[in-house]
Amino acid sequence: MVSPSFSKLFIFLLITRAICCCLGQGGGDGGATVRCIQSERRALLAIISNTSSNGLSGEGFSSWTGDDCCRWKGVTCDNATDRITELDLSFSHLVGQIPESLGNDLAHLVSLNLSYNDISGRIPESLGKLVRLQEVRLYDNHISGQIPEAIGNLQNLRVLHLELNSITGQIPRTMGDLCNLTELDLSSNNITGRIPESLGKLVKLQEVRLFDNLISGQIPETIGNLPNLRVMHLEGNSITGQIPRTMGDLCNLTELDLSSNNITGRIPESLWKLGKLQENLPNLRVLHLEGNSITGQIPRTMGDMCNLTELDLSHNKIYGELTDLLDGLSSCAQGASLSSLNVEGNNLSGRIPTSLSKLSQIQNLYLSSNSFRGDVTGAHFSNLTNLYHLDISNNSLNVMLPTDWIPPFNNVLYISMSYCRLPAFPNWIRNQTSLQFLYLSSVGMSGNLPVWFGTIFMKQNLRVALFRSIDRSSDWIYVQLALKYGRLKSKWQRT
Ligand SMILES: *[C@@H]1O[C@H](CO)[C@@H](O)[C@H](O)[C@H]1NC(C)=O
Ligand SMILES: *[C@@H]1O[C@H](CO)[C@@H](O)[C@H](O)[C@H]1NC(C)=O
Ligand SMILES: *[C@@H]1O[C@H](CO)[C@@H](O)[C@H](O)[C@H]1NC(C)=O
Ligand SMILES: *[C@@H]1O[C@H](CO)[C@@H](O)[C@H](O)[C@H]1NC(C)=O
Ligand SMILES: *[C@@H]1O[C@H](CO)[C@@H](O)[C@H](O)[C@H]1NC(C)=O
Ligand SMILES: *[C@@H]1O[C@H](CO)[C@@H](O)[C@H](O)[C@H]1NC(C)=O
Ligand SMILES: *[C@@H]1O[C@H](CO)[C@@H](O)[C@H](O)[C@H]1NC(C)=O
Ligand SMILES: *[C@@H]1O[C@H](CO)[C@@H](O)[C@H](O)[C@H]1NC(C)=O
Ligand SMILES: *[C@@H]1O[C@H](CO)[C@@H](O)[C@H](O)[C@H]1NC(C)=O
Ligand SMILES: *[C@@H]1O[C@H](CO)[C@@H](O)[C@H](O)[C@H]1NC(C)=O
Ligand SMILES: *[C@@H]1O[C@H](CO)[C@@H](O)[C@H](O)[C@H]1NC(C)=O
Ligand SMILES: *[C@@H]1O[C@H](CO)[C@@H](O)[C@H](O)[C@H]1NC(C)=O
Repeated sequence: MVSPSFSKLFIFLLITRAICCCLGQGGGDGGATVRCIQSERRALLAIISNTSSNGLSGEGFSSWTGDDCCRWKGVTCDNATDRITELDLSFSHLVGQIPESLGNDLAHLVSLNLSYNDISGRIPESLGKLVRLQEVRLYDNHISGQIPEAIGNLQNLRVLHLELNSITGQIPRTMGDLCNLTELDLSSNNITGRIPESLGKLVKLQEVRLFDNLISGQIPETIGNLPNLRVMHLEGNSITGQIPRTMGDLCNLTELDLSSNNITGRIPESLWKLGKLQENLPNLRVLHLEGNSITGQIPRTMGDMCNLTELDLSHNKIYGELTDLLDGLSSCAQGASLSSLNVEGNNLSGRIPTSLSKLSQIQNLYLSSNSFRGDVTGAHFSNLTNLYHLDISNNSLNVMLPTDWIPPFNNVLYISMSYCRLPAFPNWIRNQTSLQFLYLSSVGMSGNLPVWFGTIFMKQNLRVALFRSIDRSSDWIYVQLALKYGRLKSKWQRT
């Protein structure tokens, strides 16, 4: 039973609520006012409908009934004009094509988000008529065809995300007219042709991602005109030619990835400007140039890049020594930031400088398949407390770590010293309780495998141990047995 005083209160609440709605305190659920412009309502239903053969259809549109389209899910209207300004239909299982009518009827659209659907077909040419658009997100669909030239009319556009589609053709030159653009993402499509010179006009651009496409030709010199660029990802294309010298003018750049292209020539000295500590400006933190045909030496100036955390130059044709780089970085006033260094698969030579030991943030160190020579000693590792991956394989290195060596790191996951010379089995791995991958092929060890090795093998989660060229067949059998036993044991544990 409801007490009388309670029901009075309830009625009072109902009345005040109704008054508030009548006073037009927008968006109440009384349904008294219809804000939606009816021509825009019809336009929406022409874009999303199951009745016409072209257009989009999807799930979750049960709220798309009644006259007030401003209350429909995904639709936002302007409070003053009642015009539709935002359409967010991401994650709506939309299928079909975006109809040309999009551009004719929703002239006040500021933001369009159709990401994460199954939309196919082309981007309608009429998109170029929606000149108020500031944000367009059509990513993660199956959109094909070319980017319409008319895109250049969207002078207010700040954000354009078309990644993860099947877009073909070239980047239209008119893209350079989007003078308010700050984010451009066309990655993971099938875009061909060159990067248009006109992109150098986009002076507000902060992030550009064109990776995993079929882009060819050279990086235009005009790229250096983008003072606000922070992030540039061009990896996984077929870009040729040299890294333009003007790249050094990108004074706000923190992340540069040009990996897996066909870039030739040297690393330009001018890149030093990206790493020089400048007041109130960020510095280059991530540099990926791996998988190209870059030659020459590592510029001495890279040793000044104290904010660099990731440097990957692997699988190029770089020669010379590591000395300038590591000596430079290790003398950074507040310590180097470098946590990943990968130079594998080049033709670097000389000794590994002991200044390496001062890069105390290093977690991943890949030096394999170069022409390094000389001894690797405890002095190389003295302050590498964070080491996680270590690969020095396939050089002419002697690993001269004493049998009683206590490594400063104790969390290493991956060690490869294959094709190095090891006088004896590395006893120090005994304390590396996180070790899962151990590669020691052709290390020319003498002496038997220590008995404890079998024990750690079984105790730890050591996944791979390759001793392909162990001289002693008895050791080989021992490793095989340990492996088998380890597998059996983990099988029992699982069941
Ligand atoms: C429009 O109205 C809604 C609901 O009353 C409110 O949340 C929103 O802040 C208003 N927007 C503007 C720009 O006034
Ligand atoms: C389209 O059809 C699907 C089911 O076939 C339904 O879930 C959805 O609500 C319909 N959309 C519209 C806008 O009528
Ligand atoms: C879609 O766009 C709207 C407005 O720009 C934004 O608030 C929302 O986070 C976006 N959703 C996704 C999944 O990107
Ligand atoms: C850039 O956008 C601002 C407001 O968002 C606008 O006032 C300006 O006209 C746009 N720039 C150009 C060149 O159209
Ligand atoms: C690009 O084209 C190739 C060959 O036509 C096709 O196999 C691939 O799926 C396409 N990739 C994308 C992202 O559309
Ligand atoms: C770097 O970016 C900041 C913030 O976007 C901007 O204020 C500054 O002008 C840019 N630097 C230069 C040299 O343009
Ligand atoms: C890029 O290099 C790869 C392998 O080195 C080669 O197969 C491909 O033809 C090259 N592409 C261009 C455009 O030079
Ligand atoms: C760059 O490194 C210096 C010195 O280590 C540090 O003071 C500064 O905050 C860093 N800047 C950025 C943007 O990370
Ligand atoms: C590697 O460099 C050495 C000199 O340091 C040179 O003799 C050799 O030819 C180079 N190898 C390749 C494959 O470029
Ligand atoms: C080792 O690194 C620590 C910080 O991680 C630093 O305080 C110490 O000075 C370093 N020692 C040497 C010898 O570089
Ligand atoms: C060892 O390095 C050379 C180049 O220095 C390379 O050609 C060879 O494939 C590498 N071998 C292995 C097993 O990685
Ligand atoms: C390494 O392991 C051995 C034997 O388990 C132990 O005596 C030694 O104290 C350990 N050393 C470190 C540094 O943990």
